[in-house]
Amino acid sequence: KRLVVLVSGSGTNLQALLDAIAAQGAAGYGAEIVAVGADRENIAGLDRAERAGLPTFVHRVKDYGTREEWDAALAGATAAYAPDLVVSAGFMKIVGKEFLARFGGRCVNTHPALLPSFPGAHGVRDALAYGAKVTGCTVHFVDDGVDTGPIIAQGVVEVRNEDYEDDGSALHERIKEVERRLLVDVVGRLARNGYRIEGRKVVIQ
Ligand code: GRF
Repeated sequence: KRLVVLVSGSGTNLQALLDAIAAQGAAGYGAEIVAVGADRENIAGLDRAERAGLPTFVHRVKDYGTREEWDAALAGATAAYAPDLVVSAGFMKIVGKEFLARFGGRCVNTHPALLPSFPGAHGVRDALAYGAKVTGCTVHFVDDGVDTGPIIAQGVVEVRNEDYEDDGSALHERIKEVERRLLVDVVGRLARNGYRIEGRKVVIQ
């Protein structure tokens, strides 16, 4: 299966996928990454893609007159690589109608909280602010909402007292350790086994 991965930052989730495919081989893992897309330049995620010899593309919202034009450009750039599955791995933009028309039902996202709790761009900080005792990460299919699509898998991470001392980055790093393993496992199973989405239920064969 062909994967396109979308990133906006450090790209450690992308790196985890790259490492798993390198270790198991594309055949063993069931998928290969054919391109990496981003919404901004000069991020480590793009460096990681280039080091892996992958083609990359960048579409910045501010380069387009409207959000719809950006969405169509991102969708077109992604479609050019004919992915079977798109993986939003720390991609920090909400995709729109055109993107969903092409990739809805075959685009997964990873979020650093236990959805439906704490959706949006500050899931880790919001869980801490709320005083949650456990939080974690969620891998889900992307739909037209913000972090609202059908859940595929979740991982739980305990919140520690010292997590309240800083800005959540210590907790986020612990979440990311779980998140990377969860994403690698889920993407591999979706690619190897195939899956069905029945309402809010995801059935992996
Ligand atoms: C991940 O925790 C992702 O869930 C969140 O931002 C982080 C991105 O990490 N949206 P990376 O870019 O994969 O290192």
